[in-house]
Amino acid sequence: MKRTIEEHAARFDEVAGEYDDSQNDTDEYRACVSLVVEHADPESDDVVADLGTGTGAIALSLADDAGRVVGRDISEGMMEQAREKAAAQGIGNVEFGEGRFREPNVDEADVVVSNFAMHHLSDQEKREAIEAIADLDPRRFVLGDVMFFGTPDPDEPFYSPEVDDPSTVGHLADALTDAGFALTAVERVHDQVGVLVAEQVR
Ligand SMILES: C[S@@+](CC[C@H](N)C(=O)[O-])C[C@H]1O[C@@H](n2cnc3c(N)ncnc32)[C@H](O)[C@@H]1O
Repeated sequence: MKRTIEEHAARFDEVAGEYDDSQNDTDEYRACVSLVVEHADPESDDVVADLGTGTGAIALSLADDAGRVVGRDISEGMMEQAREKAAAQGIGNVEFGEGRFREPNVDEADVVVSNFAMHHLSDQEKREAIEAIADLDPRRFVLGDVMFFGTPDPDEPFYSPEVDDPSTVGHLADALTDAGFALTAVERVHDQVGVLVAEQVR
C-alpha cells in the first residue's frame, strides 16, 4: 500500500459527499458496476459481503436479490453516504460497518464482491486479502477493479500512481487459484479495468 489504512480512510472521508457524482462520470466505472452486479447473481437467501463498499453502489444494487448484504469499508464518511442512501431507498437488509480486506469483520458470506477498491493494496497484500476472502468460504467472489491486461499506457493511467497500486490480471489469477478458487469469467472493460469471477472449488 502506498498510503496507510488511516491515510486512505481520511482521503475517502474527505471526498465522500462528491464521490458518486465523480465516479459515475466514467463509462468504465459504470460498466464495472453492472458486470459485478450481474456476475454476483445471489440467491434470495444468500449473505453477500461487499468489501471496500464505499458509498454502497454494489451493496445497494444487490440488496433486492439477496437475503442480506454486509458492506465493509475503512471510511466512515463513505459508509455514512451508503447508510443515507439505504434509508432513502427503504432498503432494510443492508448493514455497513468497519472492515478491511485482510480483516473483513464478516462472519459468513455466500458471495463476496468488491469493486474499484482492492487496487489500493500491494501485490502481496492482495494475495493476503484473497486468502482472507477464501477463509469465509463463499461459493463465488467477483472482483471488479483497476487491473492490467497488458502494459499500461504511462500517458493514460486509469489510476493515480501516487496512491493506487493495481496488479496484473496474471497476478490476481494466480492469487485466486492459489487460494482455491477457479476463475470462471474474465471481463475486460478497458486495458486497465476488468472484472474477474472466481468460484470455490469444492
Ligand atoms: C474507489 S472507492 C470504491 C467504492 C465502491 N466499491 C464503488 O464501487 O463505488 C474505494 C473504497 O475502498 C475503501 N478501501 C481502501 N482500502 C481499503 C481496505 N484496506 N479495506 C477496506 N476498504 C478499503 C475506501 O475507503 C473506499 O471507500
